[in-house]
Amino acid sequence: MPVQFFALLVLTYHSALVLSDTISDIIARARADGIDIEHQPWSSAAFDAINALQTNHTTEPPGLGNATKIDVHVHAVPRFYFDIMPVKPSDEPWTVSRQFEHMASLGIAHSILSLPWPGASVYAGNQTAARALARITNEYLAEVVRLHPKRFSFMAVTPLPFADAALREVQYALDTLGAIAIGLFSNHEGHYLGDPILDPFFAGVNSSNLTSKIVFIHPALPTCPFPVHNDGNVEFYFDTATALMGLTLSKSLQNFTSIKYILSHGGGATPSIIDRMFIHAAPEFKSESVDIYRKRVWYDSAGATYPRQIQGLLAYDIPKTQLLYGSDFPFNVGPYIEAAQAVADADFLTDEEKLGVFSGNSLVLFPELSKD
Ligand SMILES: *[C@@H]1O[C@H](CO)[C@@H](O)[C@H](O)[C@H]1NC(C)=O
Ligand SMILES: *[C@@H]1O[C@H](CO)[C@@H](O)[C@H](O)[C@H]1NC(C)=O
Ligand SMILES: *[C@@H]1O[C@H](CO)[C@@H](O)[C@H](O)[C@H]1NC(C)=O
Ligand SMILES: *[C@@H]1O[C@H](CO)[C@@H](O)[C@H](O)[C@H]1NC(C)=O
Ligand SMILES: *[C@@H]1O[C@H](CO)[C@@H](O)[C@H](O)[C@H]1NC(C)=O
Ligand SMILES: *[C@@H]1O[C@H](CO)[C@@H](O)[C@H](O)[C@H]1NC(C)=O
Repeated sequence: MPVQFFALLVLTYHSALVLSDTISDIIARARADGIDIEHQPWSSAAFDAINALQTNHTTEPPGLGNATKIDVHVHAVPRFYFDIMPVKPSDEPWTVSRQFEHMASLGIAHSILSLPWPGASVYAGNQTAARALARITNEYLAEVVRLHPKRFSFMAVTPLPFADAALREVQYALDTLGAIAIGLFSNHEGHYLGDPILDPFFAGVNSSNLTSKIVFIHPALPTCPFPVHNDGNVEFYFDTATALMGLTLSKSLQNFTSIKYILSHGGGATPSIIDRMFIHAAPEFKSESVDIYRKRVWYDSAGATYPRQIQGLLAYDIPKTQLLYGSDFPFNVGPYIEAAQAVADADFLTDEEKLGVFSGNSLVLFPELSKD
């Protein structure tokens, strides 16, 4: 009896370990980098999800044929991540098929996928877990892109706040997996951008040989202890502004000159705070900083940003060529079609400027997308 039982166990264990070549390669590369992705709570679900991308291959709907928009703010939320994330975007996980429907309905030709908050920080404080989750989500995103290169590209997921591990992962995600930007959050486990603990990461990116030094700043929920509107609609806006102010006041923004930034949601509450923040600052510090907001920072349209909020930015002479289109799918933070229509209807943009927001400005920032 015990022998048969043991044999059954071995058989079951063995069949669970029949790995596709894709998964074997992913495991081998992770092992070589000292990352264990095989013994995590999500391992088998993640391997299934990656395999299913090939076996359940999704064909493009015909509606994508004449699509032209480029969406820089869109989140892939596969089931294995959906099941462990603290704040879910919708009732069901993201799929390539749902993404294609969304793109066809809005005329989006290309989506730059990123992971939603909290990124790899699902197991806060645990560097081992963060490295593993960053790696497997990078592999998942890379596989989506590999199967649909014309429709998708992706932003590297990092295990920040662990700066050294994050630098190594970003190098891997860009060099080996082909990520075209780096997805960050306004704070990583309470460490706001500009916090000295993150400086080695920014210094490393700035001086690296990375093919892209574009950092996407997505909001996170604040971690402060006093009562807050604990919800993305409100606090995300303040957190975005806090991140830019942190980068500015620490001079991370000024020192690391080779890094470009995309601020989500038109910069969130940023326009409201700029003048006040610099009240006691040297005038040249203000002009240098605002000049960077005009040249090295881009602003996506996700959220209720048009027609009103975005004019706060434009009041600081932010060139309209810094404005990008983002939909925030699959997060249901407002009607996607009306949000795009508000850009199309904006009476302060010329037709040419609108085309810039919808695709031209992204093609300048990401020239590799023109090759499709
Ligand atoms: C793949 O397709 C099968 C059969 O339709 C389905 O049961 C399974 O849930 C799909 N997997 C994913 C990850 O979509
Ligand atoms: C694509 O073109 C077809 C035919 O002209 C049109 O019906 C459809 O609305 C267009 N789709 C988009 C997203 O513009
Ligand atoms: C950290 O995560 C790893 C991998 O998931 C796990 O094995 C370990 O027990 C975790 N450590 C703590 C202190 O929770
Ligand atoms: C870029 O830098 C990394 C880390 O320092 C190094 O491993 C890699 O070989 C370099 N790549 C090139 C193309 O120089
Ligand atoms: C930026 O450089 C200044 C010196 O010019 C220094 O005081 C400051 O600490 C630096 N900040 C960062 C984040 O590197
Ligand atoms: C960031 O990189 C740029 C371009 O290589 C360089 O000029 C600048 O000095 C770097 N900043 C720091 C603080 O090293």
